[in-house]
Amino acid sequence: MTDKKIIIAANFKMNKTHVEVRAYLNSFFKKLKELNININDKSDEKCIETVAEIIFAPPFTALNEAYNIIKENIEFGHLVKLASQNIYFESAGAYTGEISIEMIKAFDCLYTIIGHSERRWILNESDDLIAKKIFAVFNYSKKKDLSLIPILCVGENLDIRKSGKAFDFVAEQLDRALSYSKNNLNSNMQNIDDKLMDKNIIEIDELIVAYEPIWAIGTGAPIEPEDGEKMHKFIYKHLNNNYSIKNCSVIYGGSVTEKNINTLMKKEHIDGVLVGGASLDPQSFFNIYKFAVSK
Ligand code: 13P
Repeated sequence: MTDKKIIIAANFKMNKTHVEVRAYLNSFFKKLKELNININDKSDEKCIETVAEIIFAPPFTALNEAYNIIKENIEFGHLVKLASQNIYFESAGAYTGEISIEMIKAFDCLYTIIGHSERRWILNESDDLIAKKIFAVFNYSKKKDLSLIPILCVGENLDIRKSGKAFDFVAEQLDRALSYSKNNLNSNMQNIDDKLMDKNIIEIDELIVAYEPIWAIGTGAPIEPEDGEKMHKFIYKHLNNNYSIKNCSVIYGGSVTEKNINTLMKKEHIDGVLVGGASLDPQSFFNIYKFAVSK
């Protein structure tokens, strides 16, 4: 696994109209300009030490607006990317209320969140459905040569954590989410490497795993950075042992704020964050970004 990158992602969930997203992003880009980021000029006092990718996942209804504003601020196009909060695995048809990969790619989404715990537990998304979505994303990227990168959410609830089975649970979630790809991707692959065939592992270009323990989401009680580090390291090891992933990142979500971002980001295996509540205010999310990357 190579080319690690830092990711600071905002999940707006079911918040903000397209008008509110416009105001938010205008304010956010203004702050970015004021920070005078010049990643090429290392002599600049204010230059940031690390480049982080900033990802916004607004509601579907605001994707078009967000896409337009990112285009208006094209000088930050390499830093700021869009994600959808979900996709459906079928490409088109009679699936009322669902959204296809083509539809979100039309707004240049580079990422899609899949298997968020709110979809798993509130909307009853099954492991099987999540596995089909992950496969649809990998398959789309392979066929169309257009990148769409899944942000696969995993994480245990409080009972599981207390029972000491969080690691097994997360490993199982990962395997279930990737199972459909494992069974179907290899058979479609051309020039498959013998080594991969022997191990029966799939080759994935890019995957982001968001470790979001359910007990930490929206509670104001994030994971202890040391415990987060242990789980992230475990996720890396599990993926490394069982899959072939060219670029893999493991980010953390659950009550991330500008107050705790620094300690979380100091951990070696925490590659970034997926922020809910604290991303809804542009100043607060901007501070999270700034604290995550500043000298
Ligand atoms: P909070 O940051 O509100 O805890 O939400 C985290 C989350 O679910 C991001 O996807």
